[in-house]
Amino acid sequence: MLVPAFSYVATADVVLALGARPVFVEIDESMTLDPVDLRRKLAEGTGTKPKAICVVHLFGVAADMDPILKVAREHEIPVIEDCAQSCGTMYRGQTVGRLGALGIFSFQLNKVITAGEGGAIVTDDAALYDRAVRLHDHGNHRGNEAAGSPCIGEGLRIGELNAAVLLAQLGRLDDILSRMRGAKRFLLERLVDIPGLQLTRVPDDEGDGGVSLTFLTESPERTLRVVEALNAEGIRVQRQYGGRLLYMQPAIRSVNLQPEPLCPRSADLVARCVFLGLTTTFTRRDLHDVVTAIRKVMRQA
Ligand SMILES: Cc1ncc(COP(=O)(O)O)c(C=O)c1O
Repeated sequence: MLVPAFSYVATADVVLALGARPVFVEIDESMTLDPVDLRRKLAEGTGTKPKAICVVHLFGVAADMDPILKVAREHEIPVIEDCAQSCGTMYRGQTVGRLGALGIFSFQLNKVITAGEGGAIVTDDAALYDRAVRLHDHGNHRGNEAAGSPCIGEGLRIGELNAAVLLAQLGRLDDILSRMRGAKRFLLERLVDIPGLQLTRVPDDEGDGGVSLTFLTESPERTLRVVEALNAEGIRVQRQYGGRLLYMQPAIRSVNLQPEPLCPRSADLVARCVFLGLTTTFTRRDLHDVVTAIRKVMRQA
């Protein structure tokens, strides 16, 4: 399975847990899967034909789906969208999760909406739907028992109480998104002209979920200084996932036998990237403080 080199560790963990092999694809300045490297990797060949391409809409930002879907179609490989961090994000007028063959969402506690724990799979493909239902319910598809249980499943059902919380959260999704998008717009308008600060690319600005603000500095060393200085100013930023790519995570490195560096461009981007998580609780005053602190730190650090 082709996966972007940068994501939360679960994106590659699940591939390995299935006994499959992740093939890491570079990210671009959007911090999501680079369609150009995807095309290159598929042209070069990945050993056996990949079963799927997993696209991650990371940090609330949709990956550039048009060129990704085009390459996928040419090679007849289905696309799975990991929308764990991007519930409600749009790409060219369409909600993410409905662009590929199947989309997954997470409702774990620090996601756009939460049920405490839990997730969802969406698909328009009846066979994939049936399989997903069975895999999460011990091979059973309630109300559709005639076929018996054709596959081994697990007990991965969401609890009713969590589901009730999620239903209430779903009703708040539009409001949550509009507040986060407003916060992000406020910051972006004030951070465009800062020397040494390069905002990461958003392939479709209109659809951005507003979950985060990310920017690059010119070197990994400067990024480390900027992160430290902003934290000293009381602005909680970080190099997300420790500035590591998926294959640099110790657990994945121990089973991934491909020679490194696999994705040097992604390694450079991730080491230079500063991540600020946005929430609905940011007040106007907080946002002004963020702008002031970033301007100060970018002059001094
Ligand atoms: C990009 C990404 N994929 C997958 C997951 C896994 O979601 P869950 O913890 O709900 O299984 C997460 C959770 O943090 C994530 O951020």
